[in-house]
Amino acid sequence: MSFEGKTVLVTGGTSGIGRAAAGQFGSAGAQVIVTGRDQTRGREVVDTIESGGGQARFIAADLAAPGGAQQLAQAAGQVDVLVNNAGVFPFGPSHEIAIDDVKAALDFNVVAPFTLVAALVPGMVQRGSGAIVNVSTMVASFGLPGMSAYGASKAALELLTKAWAAEYGPAGVRVNAVAPGPTRTPGTEPMGDGIDQLAATLPLGRAADAQEIASTIVFLASDEASFVNGAILPVDGGRVAV
Ligand SMILES: NC(=O)c1ccc[n+]([C@@H]2O[C@H](COP(=O)([O-])OP(=O)(O)OC[C@H]3O[C@@H](n4cnc5c(N)ncnc54)[C@H](OP(=O)(O)O)[C@@H]3O)[C@@H](O)[C@H]2O)c1
Repeated sequence: MSFEGKTVLVTGGTSGIGRAAAGQFGSAGAQVIVTGRDQTRGREVVDTIESGGGQARFIAADLAAPGGAQQLAQAAGQVDVLVNNAGVFPFGPSHEIAIDDVKAALDFNVVAPFTLVAALVPGMVQRGSGAIVNVSTMVASFGLPGMSAYGASKAALELLTKAWAAEYGPAGVRVNAVAPGPTRTPGTEPMGDGIDQLAATLPLGRAADAQEIASTIVFLASDEASFVNGAILPVDGGRVAV
């Protein structure tokens, strides 16, 4: 897979799945834009990509701040591939989650990707090509106690994936999503043993490594997936199949 001459923006590229994806895009020849809030981690990801012969830059952006997504899109400029990976996971019983946290999850997991697409897709349409990959979750497809707000926000992102595929496919822009199962990342470290308990429910019986999710993201963004549009690809060890 080659991304030579392409600019790829990965939100949440400073950690976990996004970091792994940024590295793989860099190895495949992309000019990678890594974004997140943490300058130190951002610099580390850029240095790793550059030390492997790739090209990358970091743009600091807080997607939870008013205007943050819009400012990121402006700073990024022309983007050929957008990976909406950054996400927040407000776990807990529905009657205990603060409504403000529910709204924040919807803002972060739905409205921020929406804003980035609205800002960046016109350029893709004008050029007649582009790819967008959204990062959902297996729990957008079934009810899991404690993950209602999170799952609902990602289910909205999945519907947007299909809507955008219909809207922009005719202009040569493909839009797809991955729906990962439990994956070891800095973001899931606080789950402790919980991730192993969840992983035990998958046919493959283990949690994923971030690289395994990243390689699917890179595939969906690549020309090798040139006829894949509007797909929600489970990368969950078989969990939603059973
Ligand atoms: N890990 C799993 O088990 C799993 C399973 C299914 C789906 N997913 C999805 O995969 C995606 C990545 O998850 P992960 O586990 O790799 O996450 P992670 O390790 O917690 O990383 C989250 C990333 O989001 C960025 N981020 C967080 N808040 C931000 C903000 N306000 N503004 C800008 N960036 C922000 C972080 O960057 P900074 O800290 O630098 O701001 C970081 O790069 C998420 O959408 C998640 O829902 C994960």
